[in-house]
Amino acid sequence: MSEQSSNGQAIEVAAADSELYQPSPEAVANAVAPNYLQLRGEALADIEAYWDARAREMIDWFEPYEKVLDDSGAPFYKWFVGGKTNIAYNALDRHVNSWRRHKLALIFEGEEGDKQNYSYYQLWQEVNKFANVLKGKGVGKGDTVTIYMGRTPELMIAMLAVTKIGAVHSVVYGGFSEQALASRIDDAQSRVLITSDGAWLRGKTVNLKDISDEAVKRSSIVDTVIVYQRTMQDVQMTPGRDHWWHEEMALPIASPICEPEPMDAEDPLFILYTSGTTGRPKGVLHTCGGYQVYTATTLKYVFDLKEDDLWWCAADPGWITGHSYIVYAPLILGSTGFMYEGAPDYPHPNRYWKLVEDYGITILYTAPTAIRGLMRFGDAWAEQHDLSSLRLLGSVGEPINPEAWRWYHRVIGRENCPIMDTWWQTETGGFMITPTPVVALKPGSATLPFTGIEADVVREDGSTCEPNEDGYLVVKRPWPGMARTVWGDPDRYVEQYWSEFAQQGWYFTGDSARRDDDGYFWIIGRMDDVIKVSGYRLGTAEIESALVSHPDVAEAACVGIPHELRGNVIHAFCILNDGVSGSSDLVDALKLHVRHEVGPIAVPSELSIVDGLPKTRSGKIMRRLLKAQVQGLPIGDVSTLAD
Ligand code: WT7
Repeated sequence: MSEQSSNGQAIEVAAADSELYQPSPEAVANAVAPNYLQLRGEALADIEAYWDARAREMIDWFEPYEKVLDDSGAPFYKWFVGGKTNIAYNALDRHVNSWRRHKLALIFEGEEGDKQNYSYYQLWQEVNKFANVLKGKGVGKGDTVTIYMGRTPELMIAMLAVTKIGAVHSVVYGGFSEQALASRIDDAQSRVLITSDGAWLRGKTVNLKDISDEAVKRSSIVDTVIVYQRTMQDVQMTPGRDHWWHEEMALPIASPICEPEPMDAEDPLFILYTSGTTGRPKGVLHTCGGYQVYTATTLKYVFDLKEDDLWWCAADPGWITGHSYIVYAPLILGSTGFMYEGAPDYPHPNRYWKLVEDYGITILYTAPTAIRGLMRFGDAWAEQHDLSSLRLLGSVGEPINPEAWRWYHRVIGRENCPIMDTWWQTETGGFMITPTPVVALKPGSATLPFTGIEADVVREDGSTCEPNEDGYLVVKRPWPGMARTVWGDPDRYVEQYWSEFAQQGWYFTGDSARRDDDGYFWIIGRMDDVIKVSGYRLGTAEIESALVSHPDVAEAACVGIPHELRGNVIHAFCILNDGVSGSSDLVDALKLHVRHEVGPIAVPSELSIVDGLPKTRSGKIMRRLLKAQVQGLPIGDVSTLAD
């Protein structure tokens, strides 16, 4: 199958399903879970027994749970009811009390080449100290703390310190603007903001403190800002409100001992804002027990994590990928993780490959957009490096087109490294449809549901689709890593995820998919008004509401157009207010406005000024028509069009 990209070139979106990559016998023999395929059957036969066993194996509990799954309040499921635990304890303390005390937990390289290593003991100390700083600022169990920082170890330290004392973090990705940050601070009602002076990106600095100041001004609830000094640029410190991280960490209050707060399995752990179908930010809530069990189990089985691996998840901790697979799961499993601050192609397109060689990274997990972005520079940049330390590769965020898959496999993996194409979401907490090293691979397919996950592709009436028929991707049974609610808005949680198939009680993912004759899943893409741009999840509604908040815009609509490198790009259409005339200056001003309201990632690559928008008779914008028009495709059924 092929789709038209915006520049008219066809991109192959699915390989022939005859292209099969069998696991090597050694890979199977050495796998953490060689019997994974059999385990899948066993787990589904009794999901409670299966997750009970994983909960005992993966983490320590201060007090045992009484019940594995409570479905009496479905879709508000509860896992490991009555159990007491703490994620920072499982990530750090228990390793510090073991032979892993001096094992490396984290290896970091900054964009400018600066290096930092943390053993479990050192990371534990930093976390304890910062936890005590937070306590000194009045942060306690159940309080929310917003974190807005670049990709440095301190971001991880801040997250772990928050969870150690039972507070709830809301990490806002450093690429979001002042308005996006302000609305997330308000929604989470956090009094405390942790930020840094700036972050390095492509040799320049992003001024995070200025953006924070503006957001704090707009939100009015923040009374304490802690600022980590990274770039040393000039920033304005407001006396009484702003405090330097390094100064706080030098005070007597920053003691290196901090007992973990015992948390109920269903106490809030963190909020992570993601895009949905309305402009309002949607705070996905994960809880203390099930999330740990699920992320640790998935990482261990899928990426086959062994004691001597060097694991690099190249995402940002500001997204769920980073929460689950940079910060929490790798530490829970006691492994060594690698973190890199900057851009993949800085200062040259070989930066990732140089890092793999320099550190001897064994497992690399990144996104199709990064792979395609590096592929376009040619093979020589990778071939100049010794990549033989790699044994496994991973992909996440959007469907990986077979061409990029094959390049990743051949040039980066030297045909020796299976690729784990993991399908999951902010809401699922961890991998849902994914291979493991024992599963035969097809380029472009995320293969099979994980152990204990019952996924299906269904029609509108809930009947299962035939092989190769497109349908709704649903999950039919609960799993421990599932989101528990939308922060402060339980109705929205029900409406968003559990209303499409309410009768059957299934979780609707928002994605469409198909299954082939072997039962392999092929993810097609979002069915709702969510657009994936370079793997980033954006809602048409948030970009449209940013556009209409401009004084010259009366109405706006956005669509995602397929793009070779970025997966999709945004094309916006604006109707101007009476008396305003369109000009290229205005188009630039509108793009800049979106940059400030949402962030650089949301800026439309095309913006057309139009006189009208196609609508249904009930007044809904028909984005499908706009999309078809831009791509020069047939517009299909227009019977509901108003005129
Ligand atoms: C959406 C969720 C989960 C980490 C990053 C994204 C798309 C994600 C894949 C994949 C095809 C994928 C889906 C999903 N997606 N991984 N391997 N193959 N599509 O999390 O920002 O919550 O986005 O990303 O459309 O619904 P997210």
